[in-house]
Formats: sequence, C-alpha cells, structure tokens
Amino acid sequence: MNEELYDYVLAHANPPTDEISERLAATTVERFGELASMNIGIDQGRFLAMLVAITGARTIVEVGTFTGMSALWMARALPDDGQLICFDITDRYLATAREAWAAAGVDDRIDVRIGPAGEGLATLPGDLRIDMAFVDADKTGYAGYLDQLLPRMSERGVIAVDNVLWSGGVVEASDESEATVALRAFNDMVASRAGVEAVMLPVGDGVTLIRRTG
Ligand SMILES: C[S@@+](CC[C@H](N)C(=O)[O-])C[C@H]1O[C@@H](n2cnc3c(N)ncnc32)[C@H](O)[C@@H]1O
Repeated sequence: MNEELYDYVLAHANPPTDEISERLAATTVERFGELASMNIGIDQGRFLAMLVAITGARTIVEVGTFTGMSALWMARALPDDGQLICFDITDRYLATAREAWAAAGVDDRIDVRIGPAGEGLATLPGDLRIDMAFVDADKTGYAGYLDQLLPRMSERGVIAVDNVLWSGGVVEASDESEATVALRAFNDMVASRAGVEAVMLPVGDGVTLIRRTG
C-alpha cells in the first residue's frame, strides 16, 4: 500500500483520529528513535480494538509490549472488569507505556510481567482461559508461544500473530535472516497444523488470526 492510500484508509476509520495513540507514537519517536517503528500503526490498533469488541474478550494476553501501543488499543476495548496480561523481556519502555495507559484510564486493567515470555506464559494459572492473544515479540519464539497459548484459549478465543509478512521478506528467497527464516517456518507450520483454523491478513506488516478447532 502506498502512503496516499494508507492515509486514505486512516481517514476513513471512525473516528478518523485518536489523540492518545497519536501522542504515544510521537513520544515513542522522541524517546526511542527508530525503534518506534515497532509500534503497531493506527490501522492495526483499530483492527485489534474491533476484534476485542466483536469477540467480547475479557481476558487478553500480549506477548511483546514495547511502549504499549497495541496494549493501549486492546485495553480500551475491554469491559471495565477485563484484564490484559502483558509480557516483555525488558522494563525499559514501561514508563512510556504506563503514561499512555493512564491517560486513557486503562492502566489498572493491564498487568505487566517482565522477563522472557516463554517463562512468563508457563506461570499462568492452569485454569486461566484466554479470550484473545496478541503475539508481537521475538520472531524465533513464535512457534513456542503458539504451543503455550493454544491449549489455554477459550472456546471462541483468537490468537493474532503480528509481522507474518515481515515487510515482504517471507517471499524474498535471498532473505535468509534468522527472523525471516523463523517466520517462514512459522507460517508454513500454521498452514499445515491440525486442529486450528488460520487466516493471514495484509493488515500492517501482516497479521495471522488463529483459532482452535479441535
Ligand atoms: C515489536 S515490539 C512490540 C510492539 C508492541 N506490540 C506495540 O505495538 O507497541 C517487540 C517487543 O518484544 C519484546 N521481546 C523480545 N523478546 C522477548 C521475549 N523473549 N520475551 C518477551 N518479550 C520479548 C521486546 O523487548 C519488544 O518490546
């Protein structure tokens, strides 16, 4: 999608602007420079918020939080008694995230656990049922996160996995970077895995929605 078309997409969401996420995006650039490209875009934020609303999710897990952009969008769409459990390996970006979450009045719905997400997911109570998960961390860990999340998903739960197109790298044979190879293998595994249904969407850098069928 070119810039003109992307702007058109943004302008035709309802509402077309969002002050808190726009401020968070600007603050992330000021504080963390080019790392800011790790934030999901406003189109993807709206998509995640819509997903929370239409699935009626009450318990969400996020793997990879950074300055809290995706968490902001999902938390705002939760009901008042909903919860979002976020995993990130570092607390370096957390103060920035918390400022935005507080401005949106959703800070108290978000429980952040610092450390490797694989270890954190393993500590979740066995009876916790997850209605929605968003996976957006180290690409080599994706397959493991899916294995950990799937058995915990509620009957109609959905897992959204980010960056599955990796800026097109997944179809560029010359791209043999570790992340690209891991994402290709992950995408192939999902497409052939029994007991799940999956659809890959060209939203943002590519999002695959996965739900358990068996
Ligand atoms: C792409 S950023 C997340 C962006 C965020 N979802 C957003 O929209 O603003 C990836 C995050 O994953 C975290 N991360 C990397 N490896 C991790 C791991 N093994 N466990 C947990 N978090 C990890 C990084 O610290 C980083 O904050």
